[in-house]
Amino acid sequence: MTNPSVSTILEDLAAAGKAYDQAEPGAREALIDRSRALVAALEMPSEFIQRSFWAEPAMSAIIRIAVDVKLFQLLRDAGEAGLSPSALAAKTGVDVVLLQRLTRHLVAMYLISFHHGAFHGTPLSDQLAADNYQDSISFCYDTARPSFNNFPTFFQNTHYQSPPVGSLNGPFQSAHRTPLHFFDWLVANPPNLPHFDSFMSAYRAGKANWCDRGFYPVADRLIAGFDTTSAAGVLLVDVGGGRGHDVTIFAQQYPTHPGRIILQDREPVIAALDASAAPTTPGAFTAQAHDFFTPQPVAGARAYYLHSILHDWDDDRGIQILRNLVPALRRGYSRVLLNEIVVSEERPTLAATSMDLMMLAHFAVRERTAAEWRAILAAAGLRVVQIYTYPGVAESLIEAELA
Ligand SMILES: C[S@@+](CC[C@H](N)C(=O)[O-])C[C@H]1O[C@@H](n2cnc3c(N)ncnc32)[C@H](O)[C@@H]1O
Repeated sequence: MTNPSVSTILEDLAAAGKAYDQAEPGAREALIDRSRALVAALEMPSEFIQRSFWAEPAMSAIIRIAVDVKLFQLLRDAGEAGLSPSALAAKTGVDVVLLQRLTRHLVAMYLISFHHGAFHGTPLSDQLAADNYQDSISFCYDTARPSFNNFPTFFQNTHYQSPPVGSLNGPFQSAHRTPLHFFDWLVANPPNLPHFDSFMSAYRAGKANWCDRGFYPVADRLIAGFDTTSAAGVLLVDVGGGRGHDVTIFAQQYPTHPGRIILQDREPVIAALDASAAPTTPGAFTAQAHDFFTPQPVAGARAYYLHSILHDWDDDRGIQILRNLVPALRRGYSRVLLNEIVVSEERPTLAATSMDLMMLAHFAVRERTAAEWRAILAAAGLRVVQIYTYPGVAESLIEAELA
């Protein structure tokens, strides 16, 4: 890709702006992407360094403090009146001089505002006050950021070699001085597991879901042809579904769907599901502890859905996870649905490359291209039927079946 001129980017921005006004899918993401391109085209090196290495790290550190002192919640709850520096200092317990320096930076970064002698939340900071985003900030700051900060030393020590795939000696283990796999470390180091689970349930919030209209044709591919006489009577199994955010959305979107929906995850995740939130109404899901490195216990379901599962694992273990599904699949009926990033070689998106680096940092694995997805599925005895995408959404829906 050649470097676009400022005038070309401005033309692209104008076009994306029109699309945004028409509420076209993907237009908002295109506007953000072109705005980033504009900054990259305009910034001088001194500005680039100041933004990347002072302004943004300082902002994320201040936001992590904001979680501890409930800054965004206080500003949200203060509404239009806002809070004066002294009132905010009293409520947060942060010395007023320090508080003003920290919050001034957030004003300069457009995250909060200051007018009429008071600090005010913005739509963005008000939303960040929700529990799932607060936990996500803690996860990203406490767990992910040390892994990235450790990249230069880690890769210098490995003479710039990729860590062996799936290694338990990657940037994450080195940064956190642990021999544990990421998922085991989360369990062993409270409260990182609930922070991570919140992060998983929140980081795609607001994006189109695989089962939204115009993405994967659920009615045609899953509901039509559902075998009401099958012994299993299961429509969908969400394998490694975390707290069940995906199956909850699915059940809401298709309240009259046939068959049962089952959520599976590791025992500690299932055990931590809030009992009061456990759905009992028809159309909701049932939860089941299941280790996906063991054979799939639910046979003959219409679909087995794996969202951001295989990208956590190297090819050998990914193939193992898929092979554990194979005996449960009914030929010509059961579908395997992988909701995963498919990396474009020509135009990788920021969402795809950021996630690829998260994978490198925490699991020593990678996001896959379409060819790599076909290969790993083929190695497990499956074939790709079709890959569905949606504008502005990082993850595709790969529909597969027995080869
Ligand atoms: C990246 S998260 C994806 C969660 C959810 N599918 C989503 O996309 O939001 C990976 C999930 O795999 C689960 N997991 C990890 N190892 C597992 C295992 N051996 N068996 C079952 N689930 C596992 C984790 O607990 C976590 O919920």
